[in-house]
Amino acid sequence: MSQTAYRTHHATDVTEDLVGQRVKLSGWVDRRRDHGGVAFIDLRDSSGVVQVVINDEEMARPLRSEFVVELEGTVRMRPEGNENPHMRTGKVEVEVESLDVLAKSDALPFQVSTVLANETEGKLPGEDVRLKYRYLDLRRPSMARNIKLRSDMMKAARTVLDEMGFTEVETPTMIKSTPEGARDFVVPARLVPGSWYALPQSPQLLKQLLMVAGVERYYQFARCYRDEDFRADRQPEFTQLDMEMAFVDQEDVMAMTERLIQAIWKAAGHDVQLPLPRITWQDAMDKYGSDKPDLRFGNPLVELTDYFKNTPFRVFQAPYVGAVLFKGGAATPRRQFDAWQDWAKQRGAKGLAYIVFGENGEIKGPVAKNISEEERNGLKAAVGAEDGDAVFFAAGAREASQMLLGAVRVELADRAGLLKPDDFAFTWVVDFPLFKKADDPDDDDVAVGHSKWTSMHHPFTMPSKDWLDTFDQDPEHAMSDSYDIVCNGNEMGGGSVRIHRDDIQDRVLEVLGIDEAEAQDKFGFLLEAFKYGAPPHAGIALGWDRTAAILSGSDSIRDVIAFPKAGGGRDPLTGAPAPISDEQRAETGVDYDPEDDE
Ligand code: AMO
Ligand code: AMP
Repeated sequence: MSQTAYRTHHATDVTEDLVGQRVKLSGWVDRRRDHGGVAFIDLRDSSGVVQVVINDEEMARPLRSEFVVELEGTVRMRPEGNENPHMRTGKVEVEVESLDVLAKSDALPFQVSTVLANETEGKLPGEDVRLKYRYLDLRRPSMARNIKLRSDMMKAARTVLDEMGFTEVETPTMIKSTPEGARDFVVPARLVPGSWYALPQSPQLLKQLLMVAGVERYYQFARCYRDEDFRADRQPEFTQLDMEMAFVDQEDVMAMTERLIQAIWKAAGHDVQLPLPRITWQDAMDKYGSDKPDLRFGNPLVELTDYFKNTPFRVFQAPYVGAVLFKGGAATPRRQFDAWQDWAKQRGAKGLAYIVFGENGEIKGPVAKNISEEERNGLKAAVGAEDGDAVFFAAGAREASQMLLGAVRVELADRAGLLKPDDFAFTWVVDFPLFKKADDPDDDDVAVGHSKWTSMHHPFTMPSKDWLDTFDQDPEHAMSDSYDIVCNGNEMGGGSVRIHRDDIQDRVLEVLGIDEAEAQDKFGFLLEAFKYGAPPHAGIALGWDRTAAILSGSDSIRDVIAFPKAGGGRDPLTGAPAPISDEQRAETGVDYDPEDDE
């Protein structure tokens, strides 16, 4: 379907098969070179690039980078020795007979040429400039590829979801607040002064209502809004591939999600072997110091709490001592080890003890003298080190120490070049706790409820079968039927089996310190719906931006979103967010004060 009023073919349709034929092409002047009165133009369109040759100096003279042109000419083989094996169209060129400039371009704020972009990738302007001129940034081939990939992924997902009997349903984005652990963005309701809609943090409650409605298998590419602090893998506005199913258990959801992931990866030419591996949340924390372990490489943490139980070293007299091996680390200069200390302190750690195993068997490093001789001698075997290695230690509270070592493990692998973007190491993380402490200073989620416990996932998550009778007596240890899908150290998605019985829901809300009145006020509509025949149901949501970023090997989800927000939630292109006029304030009622009515 290339043919339109402006073209007979797309650029990359122009191959040997068309030699001798007249073609009409339209696109952008990607690059221009001049050789003895002949102009060679790389003409770029959404498909790619083809070389066109202009022998007429008059015709070529006005053409500049990124001018939009329509041309007609005849396809011919390139002269021998002038082929470009790296281009799909590299054997041919188009000899131009007529050409119209459809639009001119000002001098560009930065280079977008297909050919030059790869060379200049490292010299890109700062992100604010890229986002201000996003429409130019998106012309760069790597960005254009990402946008196309994202579309191909959506198509593959829709196809396989359709095969599995899912129905695509849109849910509203002006709703009542959904408790997903972040702050809401809100919209003033002009017609009900003093009242506000919330934008959905996810369609969670709506998709559960669809299960009560009998939809049975729902999906949606859902826009979600969360007023959170900014990070590379977070946007205030993002997309989920959101799914919910009735009459399924955890295994069913996992199997369907795996089939979906396989199809999405296939769309990008990658084979994924099923079933995907699984790890329990506890094992992930113990072995990798993370609830989203990067399994592209090994090097698990080694717990040494027992090993150091009688240690004379004050720092290691702690509830947890663990280590991570730094293969070949003995050659590291002292100042670099000092830099590791600063790195650890920046993450809120007290320090990062280390020991070096010299090539000649000696054991060195600032803490080597603090531990006992026996501890020193057995250490190499205990951590699986050899001469020439080093080892880092963390001591203190279990989870915080493990997370520090987990970060060291990833940082070491990164510095060793082990984090290859086109290796895909998936794992399910299963057996999550049902609750977590509400007052954890390292956790920036907004606690749901008012007790010392808050939901690990959300308040509608089903306790696991073993804990159904006792979860409220021992919230600290209670487990849930929830699961995350992780790839290369990223939480790609997560979901759970939901509570469909009101007695269990009431007990969960009680643990969270949400009383009847508050529950009615916040999600009474859901609790009411559950009185009318709620089927057992479960679901999952894939963070679609993260999924696309992982599959495309992008460092940031901003590289797979056409118009993302910059730091602080700003949009340098349109200038949003922006103040509104006094008239708009009055009209929308944002300053409404009920007392003014009295
Ligand atoms: P959850 O909050 O885990 O679950 O979100 C699901 C997935 O969405 C992605 N994600 C984000 N991506 C970009 N920017 C953000 N700010 C952001 N926040 C989350 C992550 C995450 O794994 N309703 C539940 C799903 C369910 O239980 O079915 C939910 O929203 O990849
Ligand atoms: P100190 O005795 O406090 O000077 O610490 C001695 C060494 O242990 C230094 O290298 C610190 O970086 C390190 N260290 C201190 N606290 C911890 C900790 N909680 N975990 C691991 N190493 C630590």
